[in-house]
Amino acid sequence: MTIQPTIGPAPVSTPAGAPLHRPRRLRRTPHLRRLTAETQVHASNLIQPLFLREGLTAPREIPSMPGVFQHTRDTLRKAAVEAVSAGVGGVMLFGIPQEKDERGSGAVDPDGILQVALRDVAAEVGDATVVIGDINLDEYTTHGHTGVLGPDGDVDNDASVELYGQAAVVQAEAGAHIVAPSGMMDGQVAHIRAALDAAGHQNVAILGYSAKYASHFYGPFRDAVESSLQGNRRTYQQNPGNIRESLREVALDMAEGADMVMVKPALAYLDIVRLIADHVDVPVSAYQVSGEYSMIEAAAARGWLERDGSIVESLTSIHRAGASQIITYWATEFAPRLG
Ligand code: PBG
Repeated sequence: MTIQPTIGPAPVSTPAGAPLHRPRRLRRTPHLRRLTAETQVHASNLIQPLFLREGLTAPREIPSMPGVFQHTRDTLRKAAVEAVSAGVGGVMLFGIPQEKDERGSGAVDPDGILQVALRDVAAEVGDATVVIGDINLDEYTTHGHTGVLGPDGDVDNDASVELYGQAAVVQAEAGAHIVAPSGMMDGQVAHIRAALDAAGHQNVAILGYSAKYASHFYGPFRDAVESSLQGNRRTYQQNPGNIRESLREVALDMAEGADMVMVKPALAYLDIVRLIADHVDVPVSAYQVSGEYSMIEAAAARGWLERDGSIVESLTSIHRAGASQIITYWATEFAPRLG
């Protein structure tokens, strides 16, 4: 890009000394601003995460995420219909089991809670939207880690990846169009691709949570899935200070067969979104995570931020940085006004 046409040797003043170039001319009316807008988020870019909690008789609001609910089977179906009617591009489902165990068995059970959610939502709106399942064990394990623990107390990579493969197959069988492995285990995409293909699910796509940072902004999500994490995730999620590592993770996921890649969180990692978007030829998604949601909601509730404007600005910025899809808890609410 060159900036010479407007600044440089050319005169920048009229003979009378007034500015020759007046960028404000193009900002003067709403129509001029609309005509010259460079970035516009569309409803079809948004993905709505939804939670199904086993054993609930009424939806339960998540305390640290006002406006976001753990659903019953009934209200989940309604929320999915509402999302699709609002025009969102897809829904991403999470399940919260009643009982957790050491190995996260619910994740690979064909009748596990996420599979129930996928089946219900696929039956209700499956031909009108994209249904995405999150592959991970953290909602299902008593220790809250993303996989099974080895004798040293750290997550056992290869044993966990084995379970992800099984989870992918049961999710595909339940109706997922896309599965999204979020565990940050090495080789997970290759293993899931092979497991899906072996089970005849060649057409189920993989959205890799490729550049996923060990972030404090996932805090409220723990509330959402009733997870009390023992320790931290720093042996498998990325160091927030690293950039090049993201390129490596994304390259590995693509080599392993990821159809789409994701950066997570979004707002604090827009440089990573931009970098990845400039380097890859697959769609780049970004996850505007629970903490990003709660920050704006909390400040807005105190009257410290103008809520709707702040939300649209955050979505626009994530899109501007290069994310084709944005996973956001505001998808259903904001889709209609984004067109
Ligand atoms: C893993 C998963 C997490 C989120 C999405 N998928 C939690 C984690 O990795 O710690 C976080 C999403 C959010 O914070 O909104 N199941």
